Amino acid sequence: MPKIPVPKIPDAVVPPPLRKPAKPGAGGTPKGQAPEDLKTAPERQSHGDKLLDRGKEAPIDALAWVDQRLAASGFLTGMLYRKVPKGTNWFYTLGSATLFAFIVQAVTGVFLAMYYTPSATQAYHSIAHINNDVPLGQLVHGMHKWGSSVMVILIFLHMGRTFFFGAYKYPRELNWVIGVVLLILTMTMAFTGYLLPFDQRSFWASIVGININGTGPVVGPYLSDFLRAGPELGATTLSRFYAIHMLLVPGAIIALIGAHMYLVVKLGTTAPPWVRAERPKVAAPTAALDAGANGNGRVNGHRVDGAPVDGEGNGSL
Ligand code: HEM
Repeated sequence: MPKIPVPKIPDAVVPPPLRKPAKPGAGGTPKGQAPEDLKTAPERQSHGDKLLDRGKEAPIDALAWVDQRLAASGFLTGMLYRKVPKGTNWFYTLGSATLFAFIVQAVTGVFLAMYYTPSATQAYHSIAHINNDVPLGQLVHGMHKWGSSVMVILIFLHMGRTFFFGAYKYPRELNWVIGVVLLILTMTMAFTGYLLPFDQRSFWASIVGININGTGPVVGPYLSDFLRAGPELGATTLSRFYAIHMLLVPGAIIALIGAHMYLVVKLGTTAPPWVRAERPKVAAPTAALDAGANGNGRVNGHRVDGAPVDGEGNGSL
């Protein structure tokens, strides 16, 4: 098997060796030679070397400065090194994959917003301009368009994982409810984003979507009126969808993902249903009582001293 080269650890992050000061007269450095660390001692370094050393340590110093004020490293260490249950597997990556898809959507969306014009007369042309003229425009637009489907698929798979692993049960009900709201908001993003190119397909698909919303009980008609923002789908609808897609829903999603992640870290994740919880070791007096309650004087097949055996002292008359 080919050997994988080990990456070099930057000197700046390697702590200086801790040395015990040598006893006077004890061996170590041969006579007449300066010890190794004295040769490189700061007072022997040239001004340029000192500056270089300071420069190398600058990023770490800056991080330490921020950390002293935020105390973030304790939180990050706790979060990144937290224990996960036995049996944790690839299905547990679906939540992080959904998060990654959301981040891709947010980043590509920011770049698209730099060139997109939310006007009924210019929206279509601005998208054509992004695709045809802007450097990497077609790639970024494609990532955002296909990424929306990826996020919807991932969120459903993640929801399925949490459902089938029973992660919606106590004490994670609130995280499930937050997840349901995140699902609705993600669907809202996909729906409102679809109108933005303002071509024939997005126009007619949005009419269908708004009409479906209108069939909902009680609030349905109000919801479709709100979405259409007028008697017909037109310029006002586009402005409304744009505001929902760009401002309202992303803000809510970011806040809710924050709450969702907080609860994941605070409560930990659920073990897969096929991993059985280990029985805590039973203390001797309880073992005796347990064995008595079994009526056979045994715990896990072993005889327990002092435990009443079958039919003896079992409360039975
Ligand atoms: C933007 C959408 C979402 C993101 C970014 C997200 C992210 C995450 C992440 C990273 C985890 C921890 C790792 C894992 O179990 O995969 C998690 C756990 C969880 N999520 Fe989500 N999630 C989202 C949507 C949802 C939805 C739609 C539901 C359900 C309706 C949901 C319910 C849960 C539950 C119950 C847990 C705890 C899992 C456990 O304890 O094992 N999440 N989520």
